[in-house]
Amino acid sequence: MKYLSFLYVVIIMALLILGTAIVNIDVKERSSTPNRKVVTSHVTSALTSHDTTSVTSPSVKIYAITSTYKRPEQKSELTRLSHMIKLIPNFHWVVIEDSKGKTPLVSNFLKKSGLNVTHLCKKNAKRIGHGPKDLLTRNFALNWVRNHLAKKEKGIVYFMDDDNTYDLRLFEEMRTTEIAAAWPVGLVGKVLYEGPVVCRGGRVQKWRTGWKVEKRTFKLDMAGFCVHTDLLLQKPDVKFKDVSTLEDFFLVDLGLTPKTIEGKHCDEILVWHTRTEVTDISHEKYAIARYNVTLIEV
Ligand code: UGA
Ligand code: MN
Repeated sequence: MKYLSFLYVVIIMALLILGTAIVNIDVKERSSTPNRKVVTSHVTSALTSHDTTSVTSPSVKIYAITSTYKRPEQKSELTRLSHMIKLIPNFHWVVIEDSKGKTPLVSNFLKKSGLNVTHLCKKNAKRIGHGPKDLLTRNFALNWVRNHLAKKEKGIVYFMDDDNTYDLRLFEEMRTTEIAAAWPVGLVGKVLYEGPVVCRGGRVQKWRTGWKVEKRTFKLDMAGFCVHTDLLLQKPDVKFKDVSTLEDFFLVDLGLTPKTIEGKHCDEILVWHTRTEVTDISHEKYAIARYNVTLIEV
């Protein structure tokens, strides 16, 4: 009787083990069915695997210029941006601080980031009227790309504010640019989106904006275009001017027209001109007085 119940337990256990094995095989087979869409783009691979090293690097380099300045939100903006940049292959980040010297916060931050970065600094002039805030920094970095990078290696130049929101697919789109390209930007120009909205055969057919509609040849935001380094080297003196419609002047000065600029991804927003709310830290002085602890870098 004892032997019989022992045999019974053994049989039950064997059946259980066999059952689990069958379920496992089934799960494995299902997940490896070649039915799924073949992943080809670097972005999709990066998004799904979070491992850019397994992806062959695209041959066209992107030089992204970011002007940044000291404020309570700076480190959080740079963190968000840098973690996104980690997912982009063949990318050179040109970070230019709006300051007389390089600050320890940004220097340490960039060193720790492990990214392919060039760290520059240049103090912007005091803003007059509606002129751009980051004019000198942007132009300084632009010339740095012309003088140090573009002569050795061609690529695409993109101006990347530290507070915008970027879809990784945007960077794959811009790599295919031959001369200069434009795309729509969300949450800007006093409308939901502005820039090219109808494109055919790689050219823009229709633009949309709510700001300086008649005054601008190119109705687009700084985040809505990129230029090839070949064009920047052909026009070595072209830089951003001290006007509110600086993107427009820049593209016109480069010899582009709304008909010659390449239109990309006109039917979907891949970048948003988001802005971070200024944080209320008016009670910080009381906290410093009350808590006798070393201030943590924010
Ligand atoms: C708008 C445009 O989208 C920007 O591309 C343009 O450069 C900017 O205006 C301008 O007028 O200069 P907005 O959101 O108003 O953008 O500007 P911010 O995001 O405050 O500044 C744009 C970039 O310049 C950011 O990366 C920011 O960190 C930097 N910045 C801003 C400075 O380096 N110094 C400043 O004093 C202010
Ligand atoms: Mn901004």
